[in-house]
Amino acid sequence: MQICRTKAEVREAVRGYRRAGEHVGLVPTMGYLHDGHMTLVRTAKAKCDRVVATIFVNPTQFGDSADLDAYPRDEARDFALLEAEGVDAVFCPDVDEMYHPLKQTTVVTERLEHMLMGALRPDHYKGVCTVVTKLFNIVGADEAFFGEKDYQQLLVLRTMARDLDIPVGINGVPTVREVDGLAMSSRNVRLSAEDRQAALILNKALAYGDYEASDGRTAADLESSIRTFIEKEPRAEIETIDVRDAATLEPIEGQITAPAVILLAVRFGDVLLIDQRVADPS
Ligand code: PAJ
Repeated sequence: MQICRTKAEVREAVRGYRRAGEHVGLVPTMGYLHDGHMTLVRTAKAKCDRVVATIFVNPTQFGDSADLDAYPRDEARDFALLEAEGVDAVFCPDVDEMYHPLKQTTVVTERLEHMLMGALRPDHYKGVCTVVTKLFNIVGADEAFFGEKDYQQLLVLRTMARDLDIPVGINGVPTVREVDGLAMSSRNVRLSAEDRQAALILNKALAYGDYEASDGRTAADLESSIRTFIEKEPRAEIETIDVRDAATLEPIEGQITAPAVILLAVRFGDVLLIDQRVADPS
């Protein structure tokens, strides 16, 4: 596996693949890899001849620097995992390599930017869109792979690639869970043992919401039932619960008649966890 610290090195590696007529897949990450990330890699390997992973903890998508500083990192372990999975190259620039000191250009999806998690974390999706556009331009992959766990992020990036005619296929990969149902996340290691146990309420609430969605309910009604369900867990501090149109994330007026996504953002101690599930009422 080739380790590329600079844009020039990764460009050169991909140029070689292209010369050989190979189809190139890209898996962007912020590192501290778990089986969710590795499933993206495996999906990319199944669809592409070559896979490039990126590890970059992107400062422009973090609201407060404490969260950025607390983000877990373990480069040696990440490299070993990627190598074992047969990744061809990993791009892991530092901040100075990634961003020009006089940078002034950003990418924004006008409507999705301010919705839901975007309203809670101002400028977060702008940071994501800008860094992912840069990764697309630097690597020049044919396909890119993102998790459905970050549902709004996936929709934002699909919209961005469509609107800007970025020549890359956007592939969504279903959420990978621990055996007890907790969605895998790099943040899970920061949970206390009690909070780790309490966080199981999220997947249970999604299963409950999915079941309840089929009964001619309104989105508002379903949101409040899910809230009551999660409130039974005293350690859970609900940030948001939303039931939205799964294709657009727009609010649903009246009864749920088309696929709806249930989006949860719930705090356990100082760790904010997100989870999602698409409920199809038909
Ligand atoms: P990160 O949180 O490291 O996630 C990298 C990719 O892994 C994302 O596409 C995310 O949705 C996916 N992922 C995380 N947990 C998953 C799980 N349990 N199952 C399936 N996929 C999972 O998301 C980011 O980094 C950044 O915002 C990034 C896109 C790299 C831009 O900086």
